[in-house]
Amino acid sequence: MVRLIVDCDPGHDDAVALVVAAHFGELVGVTTVGGNAPLRDVTTNAVLTCQMFGIDVDVRAGADRPLVAAPRYAPQVHGVSGFSGPALPPLERSAAEGHAVDWLIETIRGEEGLWLVPVGPMTNVALAFRRAPDLVGRLAGVSFMGGSATIGNHTPVAEFNVLVDPEAAAVVLGSGVPLRMAGLDLTEQFVVDDALAANVRSIGTPGATVIADLMLSYLDNIESIRGERRGGLHDPCAVLAVTHPDLVDHQPRSVAVELNGTLTRGMTVVDRRKRPDAGPNVAHGHRIDHVTARRLVIEALTAQTART
Ligand code: BDR
Ligand code: CA
Repeated sequence: MVRLIVDCDPGHDDAVALVVAAHFGELVGVTTVGGNAPLRDVTTNAVLTCQMFGIDVDVRAGADRPLVAAPRYAPQVHGVSGFSGPALPPLERSAAEGHAVDWLIETIRGEEGLWLVPVGPMTNVALAFRRAPDLVGRLAGVSFMGGSATIGNHTPVAEFNVLVDPEAAAVVLGSGVPLRMAGLDLTEQFVVDDALAANVRSIGTPGATVIADLMLSYLDNIESIRGERRGGLHDPCAVLAVTHPDLVDHQPRSVAVELNGTLTRGMTVVDRRKRPDAGPNVAHGHRIDHVTARRLVIEALTAQTART
């Protein structure tokens, strides 16, 4: 089984990513970063997800703001707390002591061949790589949800995770670590709709009911933004890209982050030309078997819930 660390900012899709990682991989630990909501909220949400799904790993809080930019959150998509919508159970656990970046450095130095899966802004990963450049050679790779080869979601060209901390994304993309990219052009193929929320609800357990309610709240928000009740189940795609690599078709691409454009800051520029100027730095996921992905997500939510 693949051993992995998930760095996240829950967010309903981050929560599903944690459950998928714990079920199909050996989840070594969870780190959190300010993103969909402020750090304190997303850390609580990560701890609560582990509690609801019987995931026995430590959760550690990391960076509360991007490297350079001012913090920005996504209340219009995930609600003010990141977990708006459902009635949530009381919190019975707490986050572990210590800073996520210290823990990442110590853990990756202590074990070669881990996968790091960031599904929020990449601030923690960039800080860890800057402080400890040797981590790059010790990881199996970084499989991230972020960016897009086509359109954006928070600006016409920028995806949220990269837009929040473009400088951090640029550090990671330029680090030389093996990279798998789950951008919007991939993750929008794995759709959350009312049918998926109903399937999740029919699992019938408290944790699955919370996830189903979070999905409905996400769909309500997406409907008011885009006028349609369907959106991507983004973050589990980055996990599945390492636990089930056959599910995702990857192509080697050169990918860079736009840091300066007044209209294009936070855009990932994916060079899809036959003769790119630069060599590839990213395995760009461009197609996912979303039917199997959906089945695997239901399987993970069912099995992990049953363990609690
Ligand atoms: C990404 O941004 C967040 O809102 C989601 O959790 C996902 O990681 C999609 O753009
Ligand atoms: Ca996320």
